[in-house]
Amino acid sequence: MNEILCKEEIAPSTFRYRIHHPKIARKRKAGQFVIIRSHEGGERVPLTLVGSDLDEGSITLIFQAVGHSTKELALLEEGDSLLDVAGPLGQPTHIENYGTACVIGGGYGTAPVLPIAQALKDAGNDMIGIIGARSRDLVILEKELGEICPSLYVATDDGSYGHKGFVTDVLKEILDEGREINFVLAVGPTPMMRAVANLTRERGIPTMVSLNPLMIDGTGMCGGCRVEVGGETKFACVDGPEFDAHQVNFDLLMKRQATYREQESAARDWG
Ligand code: NAD
Ligand code: FES
Repeated sequence: MNEILCKEEIAPSTFRYRIHHPKIARKRKAGQFVIIRSHEGGERVPLTLVGSDLDEGSITLIFQAVGHSTKELALLEEGDSLLDVAGPLGQPTHIENYGTACVIGGGYGTAPVLPIAQALKDAGNDMIGIIGARSRDLVILEKELGEICPSLYVATDDGSYGHKGFVTDVLKEILDEGREINFVLAVGPTPMMRAVANLTRERGIPTMVSLNPLMIDGTGMCGGCRVEVGGETKFACVDGPEFDAHQVNFDLLMKRQATYREQESAARDWG
């Protein structure tokens, strides 16, 4: 159990692991996540479930080695095992046939978009995809999303591939051209999700975002992941992680995400 069956570096410092865990593979639904610990005394790290293979009994996780714990995780090799994998956690994505659905992924936030795009397509939606990254080498899952979304747009901040600019520039262009979009799902950095929300709010397009505030227990007990949605306190780990983008208090979310910036930076320097 928890053995790493396959490890691939799909972009610089961005890894895809297939982990042996038949129970989670059977139960998981689009939008859910797991919390892992790589070793005794290790930090609990929430990671989105990107897929599963029932025959192999495996789940797929994608993460970027950016902090101390994800860098430790990236040191593991095929054949090593994670200490524990808890899940599936969180509410699955609400899926229905909206008509035309647009999924938007920013950076490694593109990973959680993949299973949701598949579920929306399976429900009969016409699919549009927009993915963005700082540069060409950081674009992930273009092929996989291209198989789901007949219209897939890629944007890079530096213009090294696809459209030059942010994913929101592409979204605005598509909407300005008069293309009808009935539902938007966006996952990526918080400023990106806020910018998507601002664009779709003025056009009245229902929009969901997947939030990833600091998480500790993942069971609704510690309060670490609290966010404000529609003026109410919600816990992203049990009430989310997806919420109505037009109701999210993004300013508060960004403030809370910055709470431990100094400690996170110290942990990175420490190794
Ligand atoms: P990044 O900073 O490189 O940005 C990726 C893309 O997002 C950019 O190329 C751009 O198209 C868009 N973007 C960024 N800032 C924007 C802005 N102000 N306005 C409009 N568009 C903007 O992303 P990264 O370093 O790969 O980080 C990925 C982010 O995704 C992280 O912040 C992570 O927390 C988040 N994430 C969320 C989940 C989740 O489930 N909620 C899962 C994984 C990752
Ligand atoms: Fe503790 Fe959500 S992570 S309440």
